[in-house]
Amino acid sequence: MGTHLSETIAPHGGKLIDRFVKEADKAAALNKAKELPKITLNARQISDLELIATGAVSPLSGFMTEADYISVVNNMRLANGLPWSIPVTLGVSKELAETLKVDGEAALVSDSGDILAILHVRQIFGWDKEHEAAKVYGTTEEAHPGVAALYTTPELLVGGEVDVIQLPAHNDFKEYYLTPSQTRAVFAERNWKTVVGFQTRNPVHRAHEYLQKVALEMVDGLLLHPLVGETKGDDIPADVRMDCYKVLLDNYYPMNRTLLAVNPAAMRYAGPREAIFHALIRKNYGCTHFIVGRDHAGVGNYYGTYDAQEIFNSFTPEEIGIVPLKFEHTFWCSKCGSMASTKSCPHGAEDRVMLSGTKVREMLKAGQIPPVEFTRPEVAEVLIRAMKA
Ligand code: ADX
Repeated sequence: MGTHLSETIAPHGGKLIDRFVKEADKAAALNKAKELPKITLNARQISDLELIATGAVSPLSGFMTEADYISVVNNMRLANGLPWSIPVTLGVSKELAETLKVDGEAALVSDSGDILAILHVRQIFGWDKEHEAAKVYGTTEEAHPGVAALYTTPELLVGGEVDVIQLPAHNDFKEYYLTPSQTRAVFAERNWKTVVGFQTRNPVHRAHEYLQKVALEMVDGLLLHPLVGETKGDDIPADVRMDCYKVLLDNYYPMNRTLLAVNPAAMRYAGPREAIFHALIRKNYGCTHFIVGRDHAGVGNYYGTYDAQEIFNSFTPEEIGIVPLKFEHTFWCSKCGSMASTKSCPHGAEDRVMLSGTKVREMLKAGQIPPVEFTRPEVAEVLIRAMKA
């Protein structure tokens, strides 16, 4: 799909990528793929494949080759200069690499052996895991979940374009897997000119709701866009979160100004670098604005509270395109009787209920019902039910 007049914002790099094999060519592609060397993808790599196929990571048309990889790790730009903050790579073992030929092809398959895509092998190259960890994640510690995942990746990377024949079926909440061209079509149909995207890996709590609604006062629509790819073990599972989002939207949001859809990406927990990645993905989905609050995509104490906002200063607004809406740490103030931040509330710490997904998880684990200052009762109910199941 190219650019058209009713479009909210151009995709990153100007053109929305579509790497799906056309229906008429599928049978032939499948036959060919059967004869090719096979690379089995894990859940994270399948998420990346889906992002590439649908254009969510435009302008990427495949897994990165070395020039892009090095440039992204060191300079936060693709080799052509376009901002890009997170490597999208495919790791293979030495043994597997020996079965591949540069300028040949390989079949990408699921762990149940289903053929998903054909990879045009452009390059096989070595990489420095610790260097990537230090640059992209800001730490080489294995305690960091993103770094831990990186360290389990095999020693070689294979780069090249993909042609996707099929993706594994989504069994849960499949109607929410809208592609960038589908969300763009909804925005056009609803005549939204400005749309704010919201990333989350948590149930939507009062602080999240506040940020979204403050933004909704200024733009035409909200894309509530939870990440549903792999997350770390103690995050609340995506199916439970989806139930939370639905019940929250039904009860508290103007449906004609809200769209719920999912982001198939895996969580990297790369903090600031991932905030840029999250923003560029939402730009591809057609969002003009993107919310970045406190410690966006952070984990533990690896990042400063506002690092994920400051990193946007490394680029000009024009080259990022999507506008970050930066929010202070928000809380419930019992004197104000509302959500607020230090920008809007003069009261002291003793009047403030500090909210965080982590805190809510802890309360639920301890069998406590999160108070209304944390979580809407309907959402708390879904969470409690899930904890008991
Ligand atoms: S994230 O890893 O997906 O960023 P989370 O779902 O907790 O985690 O946050 C979603 C968005 O809301 C992020 O932009 C985050 O910075 C922001 N956010 C979460 N809690 C708060 C809060 N209390 N105050 C301000 N921003 C917040």
